[in-house]
Amino acid sequence: AILPHTKRVYFLEDGEMAVVEDHTIHITNARTGARIKPRVQKLTWSVAQAEKGKYPFYMLKEIHEQPAALEQIAATSLPYTKRIAQAIKKSYGAYLVGCGSAAYACIAGEYLFSKIARRHVNVAIGSEFGYHLDFLTPKSALLAVSQSGETMDVLEGVKKAKEKNATIMALVNVVGSTLYRIADDRIPIGVGPEKGVASTKALTGMIAHLILLSYALDGRGSEGVAALKHASEATRALLSTPMIKKVVDLVRVLKNYNHIYVIGRGLSYPTSLETALKIKEISYIHAEGMAAGELKHGTLALVEKGTPCIVFLPNDETYGASLAGAMEMKARGGKIIGISHKPHEIFDEYIPVRDTGVATIIPNIVVGQLLGYYLAIERGFDPDKPRNLAKSVTVK
Ligand code: M6R
Repeated sequence: AILPHTKRVYFLEDGEMAVVEDHTIHITNARTGARIKPRVQKLTWSVAQAEKGKYPFYMLKEIHEQPAALEQIAATSLPYTKRIAQAIKKSYGAYLVGCGSAAYACIAGEYLFSKIARRHVNVAIGSEFGYHLDFLTPKSALLAVSQSGETMDVLEGVKKAKEKNATIMALVNVVGSTLYRIADDRIPIGVGPEKGVASTKALTGMIAHLILLSYALDGRGSEGVAALKHASEATRALLSTPMIKKVVDLVRVLKNYNHIYVIGRGLSYPTSLETALKIKEISYIHAEGMAAGELKHGTLALVEKGTPCIVFLPNDETYGASLAGAMEMKARGGKIIGISHKPHEIFDEYIPVRDTGVATIIPNIVVGQLLGYYLAIERGFDPDKPRNLAKSVTVK
Protein backbone atom coordinates (compact mmCIF):
# COMPACT_ATOMS: atom_id res chain seq x y z
CA ALA A 1 0.00 0.00 0.00
CA ILE A 2 2.80 2.43 0.71
CA LEU A 3 4.86 1.71 -2.42
CA PRO A 4 3.29 4.49 -4.53
CA HIS A 5 4.24 6.99 -1.80
CA THR A 6 7.68 5.93 -0.62
CA LYS A 7 10.25 3.17 -0.64
CA ARG A 8 11.94 4.44 2.54
CA VAL A 9 10.61 2.52 5.54
CA TYR A 10 11.26 1.90 9.19
CA PHE A 11 9.88 -1.36 10.64
CA LEU A 12 8.39 -0.81 14.10
CA GLU A 13 9.54 -3.47 16.57
CA ASP A 14 7.33 -4.82 19.36
CA GLY A 15 7.08 -2.22 22.13
CA GLU A 16 7.84 0.75 19.89
CA MET A 17 5.46 3.59 19.13
CA ALA A 18 5.43 6.14 16.33
CA VAL A 19 3.73 9.52 16.28
CA VAL A 20 3.28 10.70 12.69
CA GLU A 21 2.61 14.36 11.99
CA ASP A 22 2.58 16.35 8.76
CA HIS A 23 6.34 16.57 8.38
CA THR A 24 7.78 14.57 11.25
CA ILE A 25 7.79 11.09 12.69
CA HIS A 26 8.80 10.49 16.32
CA ILE A 27 9.60 6.96 17.34
CA THR A 28 9.82 6.07 21.01
CA ASN A 29 10.06 3.07 23.28
CA ALA A 30 6.41 2.83 24.36
CA ARG A 31 7.35 1.77 27.91
CA THR A 32 10.22 4.13 28.75
CA GLY A 33 9.42 6.98 26.39
CA ALA A 34 13.06 7.00 25.20
CA ARG A 35 13.50 8.40 21.68
CA ILE A 36 14.60 5.93 18.99
CA LYS A 37 16.58 7.06 15.97
CA PRO A 38 14.99 5.23 13.03
CA ARG A 39 17.23 3.09 10.82
CA VAL A 40 15.58 3.70 7.46
CA GLN A 41 15.60 0.81 4.98
CA LYS A 42 14.90 0.89 1.27
CA LEU A 43 12.24 -1.39 -0.25
CA THR A 44 13.32 -3.11 -3.44
CA TRP A 45 9.82 -3.84 -4.78
CA SER A 46 8.37 -1.63 -7.51
CA VAL A 47 4.84 -0.26 -7.90
CA ALA A 48 4.41 -2.14 -11.21
CA GLN A 49 5.24 -5.45 -9.47
CA ALA A 50 2.40 -4.83 -7.05
CA GLU A 51 -0.22 -4.14 -9.73
CA LYS A 52 -2.24 -6.51 -11.92
CA GLY A 53 -1.07 -4.98 -15.18
CA LYS A 54 -2.61 -6.75 -18.19
CA TYR A 55 -3.88 -9.69 -16.11
CA PRO A 56 -7.47 -10.02 -14.80
CA PHE A 57 -6.29 -11.42 -11.45
CA TYR A 58 -3.15 -11.21 -9.35
CA MET A 59 -2.97 -14.98 -9.18
CA LEU A 60 -2.68 -15.30 -12.97
CA LYS A 61 -0.09 -12.54 -13.10
CA GLU A 62 1.91 -14.25 -10.37
CA ILE A 63 1.72 -17.61 -12.14
CA HIS A 64 3.11 -16.00 -15.30
CA GLU A 65 5.91 -14.27 -13.41
CA GLN A 66 7.44 -17.61 -12.42
CA PRO A 67 9.79 -18.28 -15.36
CA ALA A 68 11.50 -14.90 -14.89
CA ALA A 69 11.53 -15.29 -11.11
CA LEU A 70 13.25 -18.68 -11.42
CA GLU A 71 15.89 -17.21 -13.74
CA GLN A 72 16.48 -14.41 -11.28
CA ILE A 73 16.93 -16.88 -8.40
CA ALA A 74 19.32 -18.94 -10.55
CA ALA A 75 21.34 -15.80 -11.30
CA THR A 76 21.52 -14.32 -7.80
CA SER A 77 20.76 -16.70 -4.94
CA LEU A 78 23.69 -19.09 -4.79
CA PRO A 79 25.80 -16.96 -2.37
CA TYR A 80 22.94 -16.89 0.17
CA THR A 81 22.29 -20.61 -0.10
CA LYS A 82 26.02 -21.39 0.26
CA ARG A 83 26.11 -19.45 3.54
CA ILE A 84 23.01 -21.21 4.90
CA ALA A 85 24.46 -24.55 3.75
CA GLN A 86 27.51 -23.92 5.96
CA ALA A 87 25.28 -23.26 9.00
CA ILE A 88 23.30 -26.44 8.32
CA LYS A 89 26.51 -28.45 7.95
CA LYS A 90 27.76 -27.19 11.32
CA SER A 91 24.47 -27.97 13.08
CA TYR A 92 23.48 -31.11 14.94
CA GLY A 93 19.83 -31.54 13.96
CA ALA A 94 18.32 -29.35 11.24
CA TYR A 95 14.63 -28.45 10.86
CA LEU A 96 12.50 -27.08 8.03
CA VAL A 97 9.33 -25.42 9.30
CA GLY A 98 6.40 -23.85 7.42
CA CYS A 99 2.61 -23.82 7.06
CA GLY A 100 0.29 -24.56 4.14
CA SER A 101 2.10 -24.42 0.82
CA ALA A 102 5.32 -23.50 2.62
CA ALA A 103 5.00 -26.75 4.61
CA TYR A 104 4.82 -28.62 1.29
CA ALA A 105 7.99 -26.81 0.22
CA CYS A 106 9.57 -28.17 3.43
CA ILE A 107 8.47 -31.73 2.60
CA ALA A 108 9.97 -31.27 -0.87
CA GLY A 109 13.11 -29.99 0.87
CA GLU A 110 13.36 -33.22 2.86
CA TYR A 111 13.42 -35.27 -0.36
CA LEU A 112 15.82 -32.84 -2.06
CA PHE A 113 18.29 -32.86 0.86
CA SER A 114 18.24 -36.65 0.83
CA LYS A 115 18.39 -37.13 -2.94
CA ILE A 116 20.94 -34.47 -3.80
CA ALA A 117 23.01 -34.03 -0.63
CA ARG A 118 22.35 -37.30 1.24
CA ARG A 119 21.50 -35.30 4.35
CA HIS A 120 18.73 -35.77 6.87
CA VAL A 121 16.49 -32.86 7.80
CA ASN A 122 13.44 -32.87 10.08
CA VAL A 123 10.25 -31.34 8.71
CA ALA A 124 7.59 -29.80 10.93
CA ILE A 125 4.34 -28.04 10.19
CA GLY A 126 4.44 -24.64 11.94
CA SER A 127 1.53 -25.43 14.26
CA GLU A 128 3.16 -28.73 15.29
CA PHE A 129 6.70 -27.47 15.69
CA GLY A 130 6.07 -26.50 19.33
CA TYR A 131 5.83 -30.21 20.10
CA HIS A 132 9.38 -30.81 18.78
CA LEU A 133 10.99 -28.33 21.16
CA ASP A 134 12.25 -31.04 23.52
CA PHE A 135 14.75 -32.01 20.83
CA LEU A 136 16.19 -28.55 20.32
CA THR A 137 19.64 -27.62 21.63
CA PRO A 138 22.01 -24.73 20.89
CA LYS A 139 23.42 -26.94 18.12
CA SER A 140 20.07 -27.19 16.30
CA ALA A 141 19.49 -25.17 13.13
CA LEU A 142 16.04 -24.13 12.03
CA LEU A 143 15.19 -22.89 8.54
CA ALA A 144 11.75 -21.28 8.76
CA VAL A 145 10.05 -21.01 5.37
CA SER A 146 7.39 -18.36 4.80
CA GLN A 147 6.20 -16.01 2.07
CA SER A 148 4.87 -13.34 4.41
CA GLY A 149 7.22 -13.85 7.34
CA GLU A 150 4.21 -13.10 9.55
CA THR A 151 2.55 -16.52 9.94
CA MET A 152 1.85 -16.85 13.66
CA ASP A 153 2.23 -20.63 13.81
CA VAL A 154 5.75 -20.30 12.40
CA LEU A 155 6.74 -17.27 14.46
CA GLU A 156 5.69 -18.81 17.78
CA GLY A 157 7.85 -21.88 17.17
CA VAL A 158 10.74 -19.74 15.98
CA LYS A 159 10.62 -17.58 19.12
CA LYS A 160 10.64 -20.66 21.36
CA ALA A 161 13.52 -22.16 19.36
CA LYS A 162 15.40 -18.89 19.83
CA GLU A 163 14.92 -19.17 23.58
CA LYS A 164 16.66 -22.55 23.31
CA ASN A 165 19.54 -20.81 21.52
CA ALA A 166 19.02 -22.73 18.28
CA THR A 167 20.28 -21.02 15.13
CA ILE A 168 17.34 -19.45 13.30
CA MET A 169 17.45 -18.95 9.57
CA ALA A 170 14.64 -17.75 7.34
CA LEU A 171 13.68 -18.39 3.73
CA VAL A 172 11.28 -15.51 3.42
CA ASN A 173 9.80 -13.30 0.72
CA VAL A 174 8.81 -10.17 2.62
CA VAL A 175 11.98 -8.31 3.49
CA GLY A 176 11.58 -6.57 6.85
CA SER A 177 8.83 -8.94 8.05
CA THR A 178 8.91 -10.24 11.63
CA LEU A 179 10.52 -13.53 10.59
CA TYR A 180 13.09 -11.68 8.49
CA ARG A 181 14.01 -9.52 11.46
CA ILE A 182 14.20 -12.16 14.17
CA ALA A 183 16.23 -14.66 12.15
CA ASP A 184 20.00 -14.90 12.66
CA ASP A 185 20.44 -15.20 8.89
CA ARG A 186 18.07 -15.18 5.96
CA ILE A 187 17.63 -15.92 2.25
CA PRO A 188 15.19 -13.54 0.56
CA ILE A 189 12.97 -15.59 -1.78
CA GLY A 190 13.11 -12.57 -4.07
CA VAL A 191 10.01 -13.12 -6.20
CA GLY A 192 8.46 -9.68 -5.57
CA PRO A 193 5.10 -9.02 -3.93
CA GLU A 194 2.67 -11.94 -3.95
CA LYS A 195 -0.84 -10.57 -3.58
CA GLY A 196 -3.03 -13.55 -4.43
CA VAL A 197 -4.12 -15.45 -1.31
CA ALA A 198 -3.21 -18.68 -3.08
CA SER A 199 0.56 -18.93 -3.01
CA THR A 200 2.15 -19.49 -6.43
CA LYS A 201 5.46 -17.83 -7.26
CA ALA A 202 6.49 -17.73 -3.59
CA LEU A 203 6.12 -21.51 -3.35
CA THR A 204 8.08 -22.26 -6.53
CA GLY A 205 10.62 -19.67 -5.30
CA MET A 206 10.94 -21.57 -2.00
CA ILE A 207 11.45 -24.87 -3.82
CA ALA A 208 13.95 -23.29 -6.20
CA HIS A 209 15.97 -22.16 -3.17
CA LEU A 210 15.74 -25.58 -1.54
CA ILE A 211 17.06 -27.13 -4.78
CA LEU A 212 19.97 -24.67 -4.76
CA LEU A 213 20.56 -25.26 -1.05
CA SER A 214 20.66 -29.04 -1.54
CA TYR A 215 23.22 -28.71 -4.32
CA ALA A 216 25.19 -26.18 -2.26
CA LEU A 217 25.24 -28.67 0.66
CA ASP A 218 26.88 -31.15 -1.70
CA GLY A 219 29.34 -28.60 -3.10
CA ARG A 220 27.64 -28.64 -6.53
CA GLY A 221 26.01 -25.20 -6.55
CA SER A 222 26.42 -24.71 -10.30
CA GLU A 223 24.38 -27.87 -10.99
CA GLY A 224 21.59 -26.32 -8.94
CA VAL A 225 21.76 -23.16 -11.01
CA ALA A 226 21.53 -25.20 -14.23
CA ALA A 227 18.55 -27.17 -12.86
CA LEU A 228 16.67 -23.93 -12.14
CA LYS A 229 17.32 -22.61 -15.63
CA HIS A 230 15.81 -25.80 -17.08
CA ALA A 231 12.83 -25.54 -14.72
CA SER A 232 12.30 -21.96 -15.87
CA GLU A 233 12.24 -23.06 -19.54
CA ALA A 234 9.86 -25.94 -18.81
CA THR A 235 7.57 -23.57 -16.90
CA ARG A 236 7.61 -21.07 -19.76
CA ALA A 237 6.61 -23.85 -22.15
CA LEU A 238 3.68 -24.75 -19.89
CA LEU A 239 2.43 -21.19 -19.94
CA SER A 240 2.21 -21.06 -23.74
CA THR A 241 -1.21 -20.47 -25.30
CA PRO A 242 -1.68 -24.07 -26.61
CA MET A 243 -0.81 -25.52 -23.20
CA ILE A 244 -3.17 -23.17 -21.37
CA LYS A 245 -5.88 -24.24 -23.82
CA LYS A 246 -5.19 -27.87 -22.92
CA VAL A 247 -5.58 -27.07 -19.22
CA VAL A 248 -8.80 -25.12 -19.82
CA ASP A 249 -10.23 -28.04 -21.86
CA LEU A 250 -9.40 -30.37 -18.98
CA VAL A 251 -10.92 -27.99 -16.44
CA ARG A 252 -14.18 -27.97 -18.39
CA VAL A 253 -14.32 -31.74 -17.81
CA LEU A 254 -13.36 -31.50 -14.11
CA LYS A 255 -15.42 -28.54 -13.02
CA ASN A 256 -18.61 -30.45 -12.26
CA TYR A 257 -17.06 -33.09 -10.03
CA ASN A 258 -17.29 -32.92 -6.23
CA HIS A 259 -14.12 -34.86 -5.42
CA ILE A 260 -10.72 -35.07 -7.07
CA TYR A 261 -7.84 -37.28 -5.92
CA VAL A 262 -4.21 -36.40 -6.58
CA ILE A 263 -1.34 -38.87 -6.19
CA GLY A 264 2.41 -39.02 -6.56
CA ARG A 265 5.49 -40.41 -4.84
CA GLY A 266 8.78 -38.86 -3.74
CA LEU A 267 8.91 -35.22 -4.83
CA SER A 268 5.50 -35.72 -6.44
CA TYR A 269 4.00 -36.38 -2.99
CA PRO A 270 4.27 -32.71 -1.86
CA THR A 271 3.31 -31.78 -5.44
CA SER A 272 0.08 -33.77 -4.98
CA LEU A 273 -0.65 -32.13 -1.62
CA GLU A 274 -0.08 -28.70 -3.17
CA THR A 275 -2.24 -29.41 -6.24
CA ALA A 276 -5.10 -30.52 -3.99
CA LEU A 277 -4.67 -27.40 -1.83
CA LYS A 278 -4.76 -25.09 -4.88
CA ILE A 279 -7.91 -26.80 -6.17
CA LYS A 280 -9.78 -26.68 -2.88
CA GLU A 281 -8.82 -23.22 -1.66
CA ILE A 282 -9.95 -21.33 -4.74
CA SER A 283 -12.37 -23.57 -6.68
CA TYR A 284 -14.06 -25.11 -3.59
CA ILE A 285 -13.97 -28.62 -5.04
CA HIS A 286 -12.92 -31.18 -2.46
CA ALA A 287 -9.50 -32.44 -3.50
CA GLU A 288 -7.27 -34.85 -1.65
CA GLY A 289 -3.57 -35.21 -2.29
CA MET A 290 -1.66 -38.20 -1.03
CA ALA A 291 1.37 -40.42 -1.42
CA ALA A 292 0.41 -42.87 -4.16
CA GLY A 293 1.40 -45.82 -1.96
CA GLU A 294 -1.21 -44.85 0.63
CA LEU A 295 -4.11 -45.32 -1.81
CA LYS A 296 -4.54 -48.98 -1.03
CA HIS A 297 -4.62 -48.22 2.69
CA GLY A 298 -8.05 -46.68 2.51
CA THR A 299 -8.76 -43.98 -0.05
CA LEU A 300 -9.13 -46.47 -2.89
CA ALA A 301 -12.51 -47.34 -1.37
CA LEU A 302 -13.79 -43.94 -2.55
CA VAL A 303 -12.81 -44.36 -6.20
CA GLU A 304 -15.75 -45.27 -8.41
CA LYS A 305 -16.78 -44.93 -12.05
CA GLY A 306 -15.68 -41.52 -13.34
CA THR A 307 -13.83 -40.32 -10.17
CA PRO A 308 -11.12 -37.92 -11.39
CA CYS A 309 -7.62 -39.01 -10.33
CA ILE A 310 -4.66 -36.77 -11.12
CA VAL A 311 -1.37 -38.66 -11.22
CA PHE A 312 2.09 -37.07 -11.29
CA LEU A 313 4.46 -39.32 -13.23
CA PRO A 314 7.80 -37.59 -13.77
CA ASN A 315 10.79 -39.35 -15.29
CA ASP A 316 12.28 -40.50 -11.98
CA GLU A 317 12.47 -43.52 -9.70
CA THR A 318 8.78 -43.14 -8.75
CA TYR A 319 7.39 -43.65 -12.27
CA GLY A 320 6.63 -47.39 -12.17
CA ALA A 321 5.15 -47.49 -8.67
CA SER A 322 2.98 -44.39 -9.21
CA LEU A 323 1.77 -45.79 -12.52
CA ALA A 324 0.75 -48.95 -10.65
CA GLY A 325 -1.30 -46.73 -8.29
CA ALA A 326 -2.97 -45.10 -11.29
CA MET A 327 -3.79 -48.54 -12.66
CA GLU A 328 -5.45 -49.49 -9.36
CA MET A 329 -7.64 -46.40 -9.69
CA LYS A 330 -8.32 -47.11 -13.34
CA ALA A 331 -9.42 -50.66 -12.47
CA ARG A 332 -12.10 -49.15 -10.14
CA GLY A 333 -13.38 -46.88 -12.90
CA GLY A 334 -11.25 -43.82 -12.09
CA LYS A 335 -10.73 -41.17 -14.78
CA ILE A 336 -6.93 -40.87 -14.99
CA ILE A 337 -5.35 -37.49 -15.66
CA GLY A 338 -1.67 -38.10 -16.29
CA ILE A 339 0.89 -35.35 -15.78
CA SER A 340 4.09 -36.67 -17.22
CA HIS A 341 6.92 -36.30 -19.75
CA LYS A 342 5.30 -39.03 -21.89
CA PRO A 343 1.74 -40.23 -22.61
CA HIS A 344 0.46 -43.62 -21.44
CA GLU A 345 -2.47 -45.71 -22.65
CA ILE A 346 -4.21 -45.61 -19.27
CA PHE A 347 -4.50 -41.80 -19.32
CA ASP A 348 -7.99 -40.45 -20.09
CA GLU A 349 -6.49 -36.95 -20.11
CA TYR A 350 -2.85 -35.94 -20.43
CA ILE A 351 -0.84 -32.81 -19.66
CA PRO A 352 2.76 -33.04 -20.93
CA VAL A 353 5.52 -31.61 -18.73
CA ARG A 354 9.16 -31.51 -19.82
CA ASP A 355 11.59 -33.64 -17.88
CA THR A 356 14.05 -31.42 -16.01
CA GLY A 357 15.33 -33.94 -13.46
CA VAL A 358 14.65 -33.08 -9.80
CA ALA A 359 13.54 -29.60 -10.85
CA THR A 360 10.52 -31.14 -12.67
CA ILE A 361 8.71 -30.60 -9.38
CA ILE A 362 8.47 -26.89 -10.29
CA PRO A 363 6.58 -27.17 -13.63
CA ASN A 364 4.48 -29.96 -12.10
CA ILE A 365 3.42 -27.59 -9.32
CA VAL A 366 2.60 -24.98 -11.97
CA VAL A 367 0.18 -27.46 -13.59
CA GLY A 368 -1.59 -27.69 -10.21
CA GLN A 369 -1.74 -23.89 -9.99
CA LEU A 370 -3.27 -23.64 -13.46
CA LEU A 371 -5.84 -26.31 -12.63
CA GLY A 372 -6.83 -24.46 -9.45
CA TYR A 373 -6.95 -21.08 -11.17
CA TYR A 374 -9.00 -22.13 -14.20
CA LEU A 375 -11.33 -24.29 -12.09
CA ALA A 376 -12.08 -21.18 -10.01
CA ILE A 377 -12.67 -19.09 -13.14
CA GLU A 378 -14.87 -21.73 -14.83
CA ARG A 379 -16.94 -22.09 -11.65
CA GLY A 380 -17.34 -18.30 -11.39
CA PHE A 381 -15.20 -17.60 -8.31
CA ASP A 382 -12.65 -14.85 -7.68
CA PRO A 383 -9.30 -16.69 -7.33
CA ASP A 384 -7.69 -13.73 -5.56
CA LYS A 385 -10.23 -13.66 -2.75
CA PRO A 386 -11.09 -17.16 -1.60
CA ARG A 387 -13.82 -17.27 1.02
CA ASN A 388 -12.84 -17.57 4.69
CA LEU A 389 -9.11 -17.14 4.00
CA ALA A 390 -6.61 -14.33 4.57
CA LYS A 391 -3.24 -13.76 2.94
CA SER A 392 -1.21 -13.91 6.15
CA VAL A 393 -2.54 -16.06 8.96
CA THR A 394 -1.60 -13.98 11.97
CA VAL A 395 -3.84 -15.62 14.57
CA LYS A 396 -3.64 -19.01 16.27
O1 M6R B 1 3.09 -16.53 4.33
P1 M6R B 1 3.31 -17.99 4.52
O2 M6R B 1 4.12 -18.62 3.44
O3 M6R B 1 3.89 -18.31 5.89
O4 M6R B 1 1.87 -18.64 4.47
C1 M6R B 1 1.67 -19.99 4.74
C2 M6R B 1 0.29 -20.44 4.36
O5 M6R B 1 -0.67 -19.72 5.07
C3 M6R B 1 0.05 -20.29 2.84
O6 M6R B 1 0.96 -21.03 2.10
C4 M6R B 1 -1.38 -20.76 2.51
O7 M6R B 1 -1.50 -22.14 2.73
C5 M6R B 1 -1.76 -20.40 1.08
N1 M6R B 1 -3.14 -20.02 1.06
C6 M6R B 1 -1.56 -21.52 0.10
O8 M6R B 1 -1.95 -21.19 -1.18
